[in-house]
Formats: sequence, structure tokens, C-alpha cells
Amino acid sequence: MEFNVNGKVALVTGGSRGLGFYAARALLRNGASRVFVSSRKVDACVKAANELNSSSTGASGHGKAIPIAADFANPDDIKRVIDHIDRVTNGRLDIVIANAGATWGAPLHSHDPAAIDKVLALNVRGVFVTIQSAARLLERSGTDEDPSRVIVVGSVIGLPSGTAEIGKMGTYGYGASKAAVHHLSMSLAVELGSRQVNVNTIAPGFFKTKMAAGLIDRIGEDKLVSQNPKHRLGRPQDLESVIVFLCSKPSAYINGVVLPVDGGQHLAKF
Ligand SMILES: NC(=O)c1ccc[n+]([C@@H]2O[C@H](COP(=O)([O-])OP(=O)(O)OC[C@H]3O[C@@H](n4cnc5c(N)ncnc54)[C@H](OP(=O)(O)O)[C@@H]3O)[C@@H](O)[C@H]2O)c1
Repeated sequence: MEFNVNGKVALVTGGSRGLGFYAARALLRNGASRVFVSSRKVDACVKAANELNSSSTGASGHGKAIPIAADFANPDDIKRVIDHIDRVTNGRLDIVIANAGATWGAPLHSHDPAAIDKVLALNVRGVFVTIQSAARLLERSGTDEDPSRVIVVGSVIGLPSGTAEIGKMGTYGYGASKAAVHHLSMSLAVELGSRQVNVNTIAPGFFKTKMAAGLIDRIGEDKLVSQNPKHRLGRPQDLESVIVFLCSKPSAYINGVVLPVDGGQHLAKF
């Protein structure tokens, strides 16, 4: 059985660093022909693409990372990215990793409602508009044997077991946004499944990225490690393997799942 994404064209939102960068690297290492790496800052996108195209991280040597800056909280910007991909690939798009996300934490009494709007605009509306805009290309590229794939990056915090943690961290909008995208991806899986587009969600536990580093320090890395059934945080390869699996031909019948990638954290105490 072969797990690869040979020849596939992919878009990774928030691909300039962290989990999105690992996802882009995994796709290139496993055969993707073109991976569009997108985030707000043009310099960050170019730097990430250069690193992905260098011989040390570059994949099989055949694929290419292509930087494209965009704000995924802005629907017009999202449509511009998809139109650009449509033009330069002649309508080919096989994989979308809807990963760009943001968080905000503050105590309940001083939590600014505007922060909730900001988080939801990227983490929920941005994911929706990305899939909505990309759907026509994905439908055209997918087949019954090997459907196109959307992977939404949710979070263990969006699972029912994560709710007890939200108050401790003050990440009210973030928790709600992740529960919302889990639900959104399941409903889109039902709608798009028959159109040869599989929609799945991964729910990562704690990975030490720029976004999570502060939170991990505040809670205490030792505490998080000791409470995790696997006694460690997530590593880049944990994310990379699940991305390749969910985008490969042998997983063609997996549609509409929310898959924790957390060492079993969602079943234990945080
Ligand atoms: N790390 C964890 O432990 C963890 C756990 C569960 C879920 N997640 C989820 O994983 C995803 C990636 O997080 P991460 O930990 O890798 O965070 P990160 O290292 O902070 O990376 C976030 C990425 O998103 C981009 N981004 C931020 N706002 C954007 C916007 N408005 N438009 C386009 N791109 C934007 C950033 O680049 P620019 O600044 O250039 O825009 C960057 O590339 C998020 O959805 C997060 O909720 C992470």
C-alpha cells in the first residue's frame, strides 16, 4: 500500500511557520508537484518557500513551494488566492489544508468582545470561505478512486473534553471557533463527499509553535507532558504523518472525521 501525494497541487493556509509549515513540508516530501504556501506576511511566505525548496528540507526534488501572501480573515483576499491558483494551474487543485488560525486569551470580566469577532473571522469564516471558494476546483480534480482532500485544522480544545480548559486560559473565542470548525467540516463532508471532495479535521494537542509556546510556558511544559498519556508534546512528524495519510489514495473512504492528534490528551486531564 502506498501513501503519497504524487503530482498533487496543494494550498496550505498559514503555511509560513508552525503546523502549516510542517504540513507543506510533508506534502512536498511525499510527492506534491506544487504547494502554495500562504500567510499574511509576504516575507514570511517567501522565506518558508525558499526553505522548502532548498535541498535540505525539499522533498523529493520534483515539487515546488510557491509563496502567496493573503489575509484569510478577508474573504476578498481568499478569493484572490483561489483565482490565482486557478489561473496558474489551469484549474488544478487537489488538496487544501485550512490551517491559518489565531487565538486570544483574557479573563472573562475583561474579555473584549471584539477579540471574539477577530478570532471567529479567521478561524471560522476564513475556513468556510476558503472551502467555499476552492470547492469548484477541488470537485473538478477529484475522482471516486482518489477524491480531492480538505483538511481543517481544529484543536483538542474544540472537543467536549477541552471545554473545562477554556476558562483557565481565557480563550473563549478560540475554543468556540474550534468546536465550530469541527462541526462545519462534518457538514461540508456530507455535502461535498458525493462531489469527490473529502473533508476531514485534525484536532492537534499541544505542539510547541509560536502560537502555543506562551500557553505551554504558562501552564507548564512539565505538567502538560506528565498529564499526556504519551508523556510528551506533539512533534512535527506526528503532524506530517497524519497529513500524508489523510491526503493519500488509500484513505479515500475516510470522510467527515475529527481526528485527535494528541497522544490521547483528549481522554485525560489537561
Ligand atoms: N500549536 C498547537 O499546539 C496547536 C494545537 C491545536 C491547534 N492548533 C491550530 O493549528 C493552526 C496553526 O497554528 P500554529 O500553532 O502553527 O501557529 P503559528 O506558529 O502561530 O502559525 C500561524 C500561521 O498562520 C498565519 N496566519 C495568522 N493569521 C493569519 C491570517 N489572518 N491570514 C493568513 N495567515 C495567517 C501565520 O503567518 P502570518 O503571521 O504571516 O499571517 C502563520 O503562518 C491554527 O489553526 C491553530 O489553532 C495549534
